[in-house]
Amino acid sequence: MLKIAVLVSGGGTNLQALIDAERRGEIQNGKITCVIASNREAFALKRAENAGIAARCVCRREFESFEDYENALLAALDECGADLIVLAGFLTVLGEKTVKAYENRIINIHPSLIPSFCGKGYYGLKVHEAALAKGVKVTGATVHFVNEIPDGGAIILQQAVEIQQNDTPEILQKRVMEQAEWKLLPKAVSLFCSGKITVKDGKTVISE
Ligand code: GRF
Repeated sequence: MLKIAVLVSGGGTNLQALIDAERRGEIQNGKITCVIASNREAFALKRAENAGIAARCVCRREFESFEDYENALLAALDECGADLIVLAGFLTVLGEKTVKAYENRIINIHPSLIPSFCGKGYYGLKVHEAALAKGVKVTGATVHFVNEIPDGGAIILQQAVEIQQNDTPEILQKRVMEQAEWKLLPKAVSLFCSGKITVKDGKTVISE
């Protein structure tokens, strides 16, 4: 059984989707063993507590240097014995040391069809605002491996979601979560834990 560490910063609905999927037996060969938040106010911490999952906060602002912060995060991940790290709405950019230590073992969920509306500055509602400003008719969500480029790692799964005439960023965000994110992330985690994802030449190959 692989140990999964989930990193969060906010509401934690994607964490909840993982917890619910695990309860339904939909995460093959994986168990969420710890949740690490980037701030103490994250509601995701409450969700972890309610589910009986060990949770803690490693706050960037409580460390003077990024190096000290990164070492504390790495120590926390080491303590969890994490085999897989899932970024589920984690707003602190990971350092190079972490990315290297967990190469092809960190996955992230992003609320657009990468390579559209992604990279530096595209987070939260900003992603959906940009999609609506461009007037695209279809958006979606992407689960991908994390490398040193923001939202730049190998794509694992994508799901398209239609944009409707009178969408606001908030309405669109909710639809993308419901129709794509909450399904895609547990599916990708299960594929990873059951050893069905391989990375070759910067692309993933999924064996069903
Ligand atoms: C989601 O839209 C996710 O795709 C993005 O951040 C948001 C987190 O939402 N990376 P939640 O905290 O899981 O509710």
